[in-house]
Amino acid sequence: MNRNNINKQDILLIGGGGHCLSCIDVVEQGGQYRIAGIVDLPEKLGSRVLGYPVVGNDDDIARLAKDCPNFLISLGQIRSAAGRQRIYERVKQAGGNLPVVVSPHAYVSSRAQLAEGSIVMHQALVNSGARIGLCCIINSKALVEHEARIGAFCHISTAACINGQVSIGEHCFVGSNTVVGNNLDITDHCVLAAGSQVLKNISLPGVYLGQPLRKIE
Ligand SMILES: CC(C)(COP(=O)(O)OP(=O)(O)OC[C@H]1O[C@@H](n2cnc3c(N)ncnc32)[C@H](O)[C@@H]1OP(=O)(O)O)[C@@H](O)C(=O)NCCC(=O)NCCS
Repeated sequence: MNRNNINKQDILLIGGGGHCLSCIDVVEQGGQYRIAGIVDLPEKLGSRVLGYPVVGNDDDIARLAKDCPNFLISLGQIRSAAGRQRIYERVKQAGGNLPVVVSPHAYVSSRAQLAEGSIVMHQALVNSGARIGLCCIINSKALVEHEARIGAFCHISTAACINGQVSIGEHCFVGSNTVVGNNLDITDHCVLAAGSQVLKNISLPGVYLGQPLRKIE
């Protein structure tokens, strides 16, 4: 047996696109899990993602869970979290586990909490008292400051900055380099475009962008 595989648990990644490539690197660097394969679209069966075989599609999750109960949802998310939520429900129905995955190059305070299925990617920082909900993506270089709350199925994307005591609702996307000021409430189902500056509460779901921020949808 390869010494590197001793004591590693197997994990399957669901979604073989661009976000998956970054997830693979986080899992490999973490050293806790051995990637047993990728679950992707039916037409991708037999192909490889960074050398890992596509072993099935979403309809195979129940079957695959019998041999490998650990899953990471590696499907990306911008405008809608529905795809990630649908996969979460299938994994749960199949009795699968969705462990929290944290890059060894991230910092997560011992006083922060992360719910199942969430991933914290390279160089992200989750500070004291922060709480991250189910199946969130805290992407590379994102900052989630003290006591911030991130609801279920959110994507805090690359280098986004969520300041102290901010509350982000469920199913939100915070774009790359977007800054959300202190102690603000952002409601569910908001898309905050890349590079935006959010300095007021947002109480209506929608798509917001810019500096100053405006609602476009
Ligand atoms: C919110 C978002 C999804 C909207 O995308 P879209 O629906 O394709 O919108 P469009 O590109 O058609 O832009 C609509 C208008 O908003 C403007 N706009 C789009 N994104 C903008 C931004 N981030 N900041 C300022 N203006 C922006 C466009 O110039 C366009 O203006 P116009 O109507 O005057 O031409 C997109 O802006 C975005 O933020 N994507 C995510 C990028 C990102 O953070 N990726 C990280 C992944 S880890």
